[in-house]
Amino acid sequence: MNFSVRPYELKDLFGIAEIEKECFEHPWSYDSFCMEYADKHKHYFVAESEDGKLMGYGGFAHVEDEAHIMNIAVSAPYRRSGAGTEIMKAILDKARSLDIVAVTLEVDNSNEAAIALYEKTGFVSAGLRPHYYGWDKPARIYWYYFDRKQP
Ligand SMILES: CC(C)(COP(=O)(O)OP(=O)(O)OC[C@H]1O[C@@H](n2cnc3c(N)ncnc32)[C@H](O)[C@@H]1OP(=O)(O)O)[C@@H](O)C(=O)NCCC(=O)NCCS
Repeated sequence: MNFSVRPYELKDLFGIAEIEKECFEHPWSYDSFCMEYADKHKHYFVAESEDGKLMGYGGFAHVEDEAHIMNIAVSAPYRRSGAGTEIMKAILDKARSLDIVAVTLEVDNSNEAAIALYEKTGFVSAGLRPHYYGWDKPARIYWYYFDRKQP
């Protein structure tokens, strides 16, 4: 499938919030994404099909010399076509251009698709954070380092 990845624009926020609703049990609201958009320390990207449909999005917060990935999601009909990987590459490229040294994220330890994407991209697990998503729902913490070998 042909698509491109680009930084998000104001006009994308409604579509992003729709994908968020589709993908998550406790979705961020449209207003939350408006606040993200107004924050110069947040950097998001969207994947857009050649016929102009929003396929997915992902972004990070720039905190000191680290990037904290806020979220990444691809609408179900567009999964397994490489969009998640390309959004993640755009995130890493942007982080590198900002002299960020490491990128981190948390993921539900039962989320096999996301875990597979992160490990394929080169993220390394730093263990579990218990009860992060609720009782008995630990988060797995991942890190990606630019300038040194992964531990
Ligand atoms: C996780 C997610 C973003 C992946 O997006 P995607 O566009 O389907 O990912 P890609 O097509 O780039 O897949 C990259 C690799 O990840 C792995 N992968 C993706 N989906 C997978 C699945 N369902 N099962 C196993 N591995 C999977 C594969 O290794 C895949 O490479 P391959 O297709 O060459 O085998 C998508 O499944 C999603 O939006 N899930 C719901 C939201 C979510 O959970 N986000 C993460 C929150 S932390």
